[in-house]
Amino acid sequence: MSELTYPLWVEKWWLSQAARIFNGSLDEKSHLLLEKLRQLTGILAVDREAGFDGYSFDEKSLAAYGLFQFPQNFARTACVLDEILRYRCPEWGRSPRLKVLDLGSGAGASTLAVLDFLTAHYEPKTLDVTAVDQSALALSCLTGLLEARPRTQIAVNPTCVRQDVRNFVAGRPGPALDLVVVSFCLNEMFSSGMEPEAAAFLLRLMDATPDGGLVLVVEPAMKSTCGFLQGVRELVRRNQGIEILGPCLQNEACPLFPPKEHWCHEVRSWEAPESTRYLNRKLFRTLDVVKFSFLAIGHAGVWARVPEDSFRAVTPPVREKGKGHVTGCTTYGTLERVEALSRTGDAAKSLARVQRGDLCRVKGERIELKEKQRFRLPAEAQVEILFSPGI
Ligand SMILES: C[S@@+](CC[C@H](N)C(=O)[O-])C[C@H]1O[C@@H](n2cnc3c(N)ncnc32)[C@H](O)[C@@H]1O
Repeated sequence: MSELTYPLWVEKWWLSQAARIFNGSLDEKSHLLLEKLRQLTGILAVDREAGFDGYSFDEKSLAAYGLFQFPQNFARTACVLDEILRYRCPEWGRSPRLKVLDLGSGAGASTLAVLDFLTAHYEPKTLDVTAVDQSALALSCLTGLLEARPRTQIAVNPTCVRQDVRNFVAGRPGPALDLVVVSFCLNEMFSSGMEPEAAAFLLRLMDATPDGGLVLVVEPAMKSTCGFLQGVRELVRRNQGIEILGPCLQNEACPLFPPKEHWCHEVRSWEAPESTRYLNRKLFRTLDVVKFSFLAIGHAGVWARVPEDSFRAVTPPVREKGKGHVTGCTTYGTLERVEALSRTGDAAKSLARVQRGDLCRVKGERIELKEKQRFRLPAEAQVEILFSPGI
């Protein structure tokens, strides 16, 4: 089972919620659900996933969201947790009681991803989770979901707070939080031009975490939201004692900022639940991958370092006549292109296996090309995938 497998009991919960609200099964009422989905994402057509203007205050929109967007957000946060906690922070979560804060939690896609992750990878422990959202309706779904959890999952002690997240954080968000998740909410609270405010908001959250604590932000993959997040990163990284844990492998300036033709985001393959695929028969969205951007912030010096020669794939493998190439962002904050001629067999195959967002390195010698920052794999070299979230 992949890390990104969506729990069946969550899907069932949303199906029964939709059946109650729409007064009929998915088969009978899919046209109404689709109508809601089209309305709340009127925007889907132009690939705009942020915003969802006020969906969380309307029962029908929220149920449609629960069947379509919620599973995708679950998978997106799960990817980030997998990379940052499993690969970068193996010491995280040792204490028997963990404190997690989910800001702009909505119905709790990220809270559930955290629970699933902890259940899969950590000794049994108790989780104190505080979910903050402006929508009482969304928080009541989160409570319903937590009540429906199978007993095999870790124990949870939930607190739901209906409040503006900015006011909550301006107050006393701590103390001693182990993890703060802000998923698909930053862009709803801070618009373009408000990078300094968003950076101050995240730094305040960092103050509420002890040394081993983390703040994870997950956002849509659109150029505008990625650009915003990268702008926020630029301001956050300059603060002493702060370490950017992802997507960057370093604290230096981002070579993809400001975004031009390319911008930093992840594209991970996953399998959508059946009900989401069913609804998608009429929506025609790309469902075999989840796309997102993220920012993981920790306190400096307490995390596992990545090997110095590693890079994050910031493009998919691109195939051209007779060769393939992938561009990586290195531990020095530079972009490097690695290419392999198709006739090199294993070298080319190893490069073709890379997914955007994988952490990789070249195993063996690489040949420096005349063009700056370009390298070629000889037949005996390979691209080694060090970590591929969710796999
Ligand atoms: C797109 S949803 C994301 C929900 C959830 N985090 C997820 O990943 O699916 C954004 C959520 O942020 C909440 N939200 C937006 N701005 C807020 C604010 N200023 N204070 C509290 N909640 C806010 C909305 O009510 C909504 O539930």
